[in-house]
Amino acid sequence: MFKTLEPQQPDALLAVMAAYAADPDPDKVDLGVGVYRDASGVTPVMSAVRKAEQRILDEQVTKAYVGAGGNRPFAAFIEELTLGALHPARAAGRVVTLQTPGGCGAVRLAADLIQRARPGTRVFVSDPTWPNHRPLVSGAGLGVDGYPYYDPASGVLGFEGMLGALERLPAGDVVLLQASCHNPTGQDLAPAQWEQLAELLARRQLLPLMDLAYQGLGDGLDADAAPIRMLAERLPEVLIAVSCSKNFGLYRERVGAVIGVTGDRATAGIVMNHLQILARRMYSMPPDHGAAIVATIAQDPALKAEWLAELEAMRIRVGTIRARLAEALAAEFGHDRFGFIRGQRGMFSLLGLPPAAVAALAADHHVYVAGDSRINVAGLPEARIERVARAIRAVAG
Ligand code: LMR
Repeated sequence: MFKTLEPQQPDALLAVMAAYAADPDPDKVDLGVGVYRDASGVTPVMSAVRKAEQRILDEQVTKAYVGAGGNRPFAAFIEELTLGALHPARAAGRVVTLQTPGGCGAVRLAADLIQRARPGTRVFVSDPTWPNHRPLVSGAGLGVDGYPYYDPASGVLGFEGMLGALERLPAGDVVLLQASCHNPTGQDLAPAQWEQLAELLARRQLLPLMDLAYQGLGDGLDADAAPIRMLAERLPEVLIAVSCSKNFGLYRERVGAVIGVTGDRATAGIVMNHLQILARRMYSMPPDHGAAIVATIAQDPALKAEWLAELEAMRIRVGTIRARLAEALAAEFGHDRFGFIRGQRGMFSLLGLPPAAVAALAADHHVYVAGDSRINVAGLPEARIERVARAIRAVAG
């Protein structure tokens, strides 16, 4: 059986993780995979998470299945965090939410749902986008193509090119959009650009698939979800993939949700029914622990306040690292070549360096970044900023 299999390249980002782990240099720096790190270089368990976890250990009375839709208080909280407590689509009963194994599980289930509803639909992703978007979507049998978004060499968003490409799509195609903290560029649309995009999506009858993986790490919880809330008011249907990996620091617990905003209450029920069937045939039911932690935090005002404060401190710190890295790079280069890092949002920015420079960063300077020269700004401890800036200067030419 297995003799038929051809060797495959490992996932590029996971390969960077492995290369970093194998490097014995004590001064190595990992700016590859997207995890938040504190000043000592550790990805911490958030204090509210630790307390919630302890409470679950003390009080949980069963490990029986949670059910096809997952933890319902968790789903209700994520829906409120994403759309707001008073969103008209929620009030009208047009919204359903299913707990998923991480944001990846949510994107994949959304793609499976689209394939069921309209087989062969094409999904358009930004160029560039997070490398796992294409495999997740094509794995469901959908066609995937790109729309222009950002020029890594100049650090400039190509909004007109994006609109021009989307303008040509036939009704029914899907546009995958990142609500905030765009991965890998850090470059988000401005509110006025979201407005223009909403008008285009409505007029061309395109379905937005919104990826919300970094809520709270850009401009704040509400601001980061604002594009989704607006689109869900203007359009009859929106699909949303939510991840709790970053904003709850629950990476390895695999916690996420897929939210369907539908045309009416009856359709919402049918969408939920299909999502449950799709989940059942893939992994049956979602893992419980991470969602139980989020639900415990959501239901306890003190824990919730603690989580909000921790998240806000993380958000502010990432902004400070951005400013300090841009400053250190400007000092090394003698001009503000990487000034865009300062103004961008979330965990990532693209340096715009060629593959040879990325390879030299790892080989000669023990600084590991993704192959497209994406750096995880949120993974850069303050004490390493100058060292990293010097290394970038040395390889950039
Ligand atoms: C990243 O982009 O680094 C993260 O979202 C981790 C992942 O799964 O790729």
